[in-house]
Amino acid sequence: MSGASSRLIVALDLPDRGAALGMLDRLAGRAGCFKVGLELFVREGPSLVEEMRARGATVFLDLKLHDIPNTVAGAVRSAAALGVEMLTVHASGGKRMLEAARRAAESTGRPPLILGVTALTSLDDDDAERLGIAGGIERWVERLAGLADEAGLGGVVSSAGEVPRLRARFPRMRLVVPGIRPAGAAATDQARTARPAQAIRSGADFLVVGRPILEASDPAAAAERIVAEIDSALRPGEPEKA
Ligand code: C5P
Repeated sequence: MSGASSRLIVALDLPDRGAALGMLDRLAGRAGCFKVGLELFVREGPSLVEEMRARGATVFLDLKLHDIPNTVAGAVRSAAALGVEMLTVHASGGKRMLEAARRAAESTGRPPLILGVTALTSLDDDDAERLGIAGGIERWVERLAGLADEAGLGGVVSSAGEVPRLRARFPRMRLVVPGIRPAGAAATDQARTARPAQAIRSGADFLVVGRPILEASDPAAAAERIVAEIDSALRPGEPEKA
């Protein structure tokens, strides 16, 4: 797998096991990691993750846990036992919850990378204001990332727009960016979107892409185009092939 394809995480937001495993097989070798989110996990459960692992996939379990510290710690241990590589918790769960998540992961034989979700990429400043968040999304994301950093988490999820400031302030953190839209793709329900090259140049470590690949007439070709764009963004000075 190339350096560029290892930066691509495909969100398998699909209705069932057959669709997910079919897509996994079509995209094998074209992405570093496959994300199982709520739709799929609620329907198919841990056995799907085990089947994906048996097929050699690296799995990101995106459950966006948000509960009291003890409950989150238990869920983290259960997820770690499935051998997932990455797992999300909401950073807004607070520092004690984030620390409990980190400690629970560390207590396992194969700790997943715990990522703190900052502000969902579907939210804009107006939503934030209605949620009672003062000062706008960017400052909120930075505060949440700061909390995740203090709690010792390995990374955060944010939109590409916040990445330059997060990269400068938290150099050791893995920055995972959804809301990726290649040229010509519809924004759909995402509010804070970026092109793949733009996100990588801003300092993102991993890009999460769902519908622009899943809904393409040829998903493998769509993934390859995104990887090519990531690759050119990783080579400073070379013009982007998009
Ligand atoms: O289809 P699309 O490319 O918009 O998918 C983005 C994926 O990233 C979805 O699975 C969504 O749950 C996830 N995600 C997000 N915003 C976050 C965290 C995760 O869009 N802040």
